[in-house]
This record gives sequence, structure tokens and C-alpha cells, in this order.
Amino acid sequence: MKAKLAVGLVGFGTVGTGVAKVLFRNADVIASRVGALIELVRIADVDVVRDRGLPLPPGILTTDVHALIRDPSIHIVIELIGGYEAAKRVIHTAIENGKHVVTANKALLAVHGEELFEAAARAGVELGFEASVGGGIPILRALTEGLAANHVVSIVGILNGTANYILTQMTQQHQDFRQALAEAQAAGYAEADPTFDVEGIDAAHKLAILVSLAYGTPVDVKEIYTEGITHVTALDIEFASQLGMTVKLLGIAKRSRDGIEARVHPTMIAASSSLAQVNGVYNAIRLEGDAVGDVVLYGQGAGSLPTASAVVSDVIAIGRNVLKGAVGRVPVTSYQASARLPIRIRPMAELTSRYYLRCMVRDQPGVLSQIAGVLGARGISIASVLQQGRQEGQTVPVVIMTHRASEHAVQMALGEINRMTSIVSEPTTLIRVEE
Ligand code: HSE
Repeated sequence: MKAKLAVGLVGFGTVGTGVAKVLFRNADVIASRVGALIELVRIADVDVVRDRGLPLPPGILTTDVHALIRDPSIHIVIELIGGYEAAKRVIHTAIENGKHVVTANKALLAVHGEELFEAAARAGVELGFEASVGGGIPILRALTEGLAANHVVSIVGILNGTANYILTQMTQQHQDFRQALAEAQAAGYAEADPTFDVEGIDAAHKLAILVSLAYGTPVDVKEIYTEGITHVTALDIEFASQLGMTVKLLGIAKRSRDGIEARVHPTMIAASSSLAQVNGVYNAIRLEGDAVGDVVLYGQGAGSLPTASAVVSDVIAIGRNVLKGAVGRVPVTSYQASARLPIRIRPMAELTSRYYLRCMVRDQPGVLSQIAGVLGARGISIASVLQQGRQEGQTVPVVIMTHRASEHAVQMALGEINRMTSIVSEPTTLIRVEE
């Protein structure tokens, strides 16, 4: 095999190290599938001293990112430094220098994706970002190729490994939030800024990319309702399990005539459902297509080698296209650029859902009827009520499960309930319930 494609890697952290390992260890099988040797020729990082635990060819490491992205012998640049500005500059410069680019940077794509997509299309180079959603799960390739015949009806996903790890530890090991987060960080799953994981921001970035590819529309990530898991307590997890449910941080997108519903929040789902079985750092995405029906993809959503698997799959796809003169065969956003149209993202007030409400109230006669009265007046129908223990005059949790109700009505009712300070001791917890 004589053909060779040279790869430069920018960013030698957790995922970068995994990429180097996969490219070196699996060089043979990758070459057999591409029809050319894929050779990692340069790795740029600010730290070229730390031992990453793998043997490297002498002289491969450099601190000179600029030289790497301008090196005429390099065909493909992999950006794994993360963050916004520096990463964007690396990608733009690489594109301007005629390089194909692979990135795992979901934050950058969710916020500045459109300009990068346009730059790549203008320059006639490929931009691969399979690793940006679902770690090792090939969800973007499934959307852009395997499921390309379908209208996408809905996408429901566990899209953040760290948040899923924390909720799993809280559910199964009764760990507290901080301990579980520290473990996820130590294992290298968390973002540099873990608030991205626990506040749902990382999941929203990933949902924005999925929506963009599934529906052929630019998405402003700020329009995606985003709520994290920091207010989910052990008490709510315990009540969920008594109700036969599990709490998961879900990214949800649904298409209707009125636009696209796109939201990230803690969600109660039946403990027997497929997504409820997804534990630890695993991610899963359930996608409904109008022709195919339900498809569920499951795998490790974070971590060095799983994410590297997705990064290298892009390198392989690009290598194949380059060798066959088919660069741009699959449009970078799945839709042909001329067919992408803005679609309305529906505001949360338009949502209808079932709700879990936990009110902290004084244990005294008449309290429940006052709360039920507020809900009833707003047209919110109660499906069941759970109150355990008896502590007359003390504060006790009262859990109310509603039938399907309007988000707007529920928010108005909660505002009213939370103002009843003579009987309600703290703001009511709301968790949406997904069928
Ligand atoms: N911090 C992310 C997660 C990494 O926990 O899922 C993968 O995107």
C-alpha cells in the first residue's frame, strides 16, 4: 500500500491521547479499510513533557500549533483543544490552508457551527465532528447516512456521561452529588468546566447539533431550554423509585407543525424503559423516524478511547473520500446547503407534559386542598398524591403527579403556591415526566 495521508493532531489531552493510541495500534486495520496509510505525523500541545503512557515516534511532539496547521505535508488536522476562540482560530486557519478538519468540540460547533460549516464548504474541505455528540456512539453518521430516508419525528437522548454517572451513583449507591462528580472528573469524563456537565449546557450543545442535522436548520443554542441536575435531590430520586420511575438528564427534540420542541432537563421516565437502563458514563439516543420507527443507539458517551473511536472514524471517512475524489460527498450538515431553512424553536410555554411536583408544606389539615385548589383553578389535573409520615405542624414533602398539563399553567400555579409562605416552606421542585 503506497498511498499515505498525513494527520496532525492539535491537543494532546485525554481524547488526543486516545486518538494517538487508536491511530498507532489500529494502523493496519485502518489502512485496510481506507486503502491508504493514515499516518499521525505531528502532535501539538502546550505540554510536550508529560508522559501520556504511549510510545511516540521521536520528534513528533511540538508546541508550535501554527507550524502544524500550515504544514503543506499534512492533509487532515484534528482539533482537540476545546474551548471557543483558540479552537476556532485553529480550525479556520487549517481550513484556509486547505486541510480537512476533524473536531470533537461540541461547544464550538453549537455556538459557531454555521460559520465553520460555511468556511469548510467554501474551501471545498471536509469537516468531521462525529465525536461531538454521544462520544463513541456513531449517531451523526447514523443520522446523515443510515437514517437519511426518514423524517425525524423525535430524538430523546442521554447526552452527557458525567451527569448520567452522577445520577446513577445517586440512585444506586446513594452517593451525594459532590462525591459522584469528583469521581467522574477523576475518570476524565467531565468537561474542563464541570458546570457545563451538571447545568445541562454540554447536553444542550449536543442537542443543538442533533437538531441541526436532523431537521436541516441552523439552531441558536440559546433557544434550547436548559436545566441541569444540581437541584435534583436524594429525596426526589427516592420518590421517583417509589413511583416506579428513574430520573435522567434528557435532551429532547420533537418536530410538529408549529416548529421544533428542543429542551434539556432532568426527566422522570419509567424505570422499565430502555433509557432508564442506561447507567454510568453510557449515553443512549432514541430516535424515531417516520419510516424506520424507533432506533436506539447505546454506548460510552465520554472517555479517551470511545471518543477517539469517533474521531478516527471521521479521519477514515475523509481518507476514503480524498482517495476516491469524493470530498463533500456527504454535506457537512447532512442537508444540502441550499435546502437548509430556519425552523422555529417552540418556546417552553407551549409545552404540555406530565409533571412531578414536590411541595414542602406544613403538615396540617386543609393544606393539600389549598394546593389542589390552585392547580385545579389553572386546569391542572392531579393523577396521584404521595405523602408519607405524619409530623403534625412540621414541614413534610407532598408529591403530586399531574396528568398532561400546560407548562405555562404549571409555572403560574407554582408561582402562586410558592407565595403561600404560611404553609409552604421552600420552592416547589418540578420534574417533567416523559412517557
Ligand atoms: N463531558 C462530556 C460528558 C464529555 O460527560 O458527556 C463527552 O462529551
